[in-house]
Amino acid sequence: MATVQTTAGGIPVLILKEGTKENKGREAQKNNIAAAKLVAAMVKTCLGPRGMDKMLVSSIGDATITNDGVTILKEMDVEHPAAKMMVEIAKSVDNEVGDGTTSSVVFAGALLEKAEDLINKHVYPSVIVDGYDAASKQALKLLQKISIKVDVEDKELLMKIARTSMYSKLVSEDSPILSQIAVDATKQVAEKVDGDSLSVDLDNIKVEKKAGGSIHDTKLIKGMILDKEVVHTGKPKRIEKAKIALINSALVNSIPLALAENAGMDPIDTMTELRTKQNKGAKWTGIDVRNTKVADMFKQDVLEPLAVKEQIIKSATEAACMLLRIDDVIASSKSKMPAGPPGGGGGGMGGMGGGYGGGVDME
Ligand SMILES: Nc1ncnc2c1ncn2[C@@H]1O[C@H](COP(=O)(O)OP(=O)(O)O)[C@@H](O)[C@H]1O
Ligand SMILES: [Mg+2]
Repeated sequence: MATVQTTAGGIPVLILKEGTKENKGREAQKNNIAAAKLVAAMVKTCLGPRGMDKMLVSSIGDATITNDGVTILKEMDVEHPAAKMMVEIAKSVDNEVGDGTTSSVVFAGALLEKAEDLINKHVYPSVIVDGYDAASKQALKLLQKISIKVDVEDKELLMKIARTSMYSKLVSEDSPILSQIAVDATKQVAEKVDGDSLSVDLDNIKVEKKAGGSIHDTKLIKGMILDKEVVHTGKPKRIEKAKIALINSALVNSIPLALAENAGMDPIDTMTELRTKQNKGAKWTGIDVRNTKVADMFKQDVLEPLAVKEQIIKSATEAACMLLRIDDVIASSKSKMPAGPPGGGGGGMGGMGGGYGGGVDME
């Protein structure tokens, strides 16, 4: 279903998918303003602590309840370019400062509404733009004037700031606990930069959501959580005073890594030993999966033809490059597959030339 709104002049505006349309000049302007206003109107009712919530239902029927402007806008299947721009405003505000998304869209909607009035009174759009520009500069100056500096040791004030941003969210009831955690976490990672000011890299704070329990079970861990499954069932579940290696890249080598993992060997120890020995020039070094150790494979009588290894490298590279060159997947509407009996037959898995859903034609 498409959401349709009409401008004062009775022009229909589609903001959700439906056919294509072309608009020019004055009409395009009116059309854009109407679409942007419609988006603003949608999220306006969510603004502030007394705002209403929206239930977002996905195409597979999953429901999310939220009043967060950017969450709502991201989920909406908005088609109109001007409506999309409004969604982008919310996204960029969210990326930059993490709050104020609904306000930014509502504010933009209000500016456009006023502009529409002025355009109807034959004020030239560039004059309106200049006016808005000057007003924005003035507003920013005023904000600077009425703002106050916050001492990082003033925890009470910091908690009030955190709580205000939560007031309008579903978690507002739990804001006393959550604001404390938010402030403690932020102070924990804050770093002094040139003298007095502090800088916080939010990437140093990780929020891990766990199903079950309640918000009251939320804890701040001053350390690191590596939420990973144990590599092998035989590995210990608890290690005290462990030495931990943090490797900031994938252990890509795969084949030996997969061999080691399949043999129940420790992948990190094995790869480290393998690389050390190979770097020292022990060229036949590999993974002896029978005796679960790193060993000289020549001595273990594990020998393979060069042609096999060569072909593995050639074919794998070719396939990877072929996939990497694809920048578009176009589903053809015509099926070349012969009609087959239901539940089998009819082209078969991987049957070349089976059309989309049966196989892949390579030309
Ligand atoms: N307790 C409160 N009383 C009045 N206004 C509040 C309160 N808490 C937040 N607000 C106001 O609500 C607005 C933010 O609402 P919110 O739904 O969080 O939208 P946004 O996505 O723009 O942050 C701001 O204008 C803020 O000043
Ligand atoms: Mg907010």
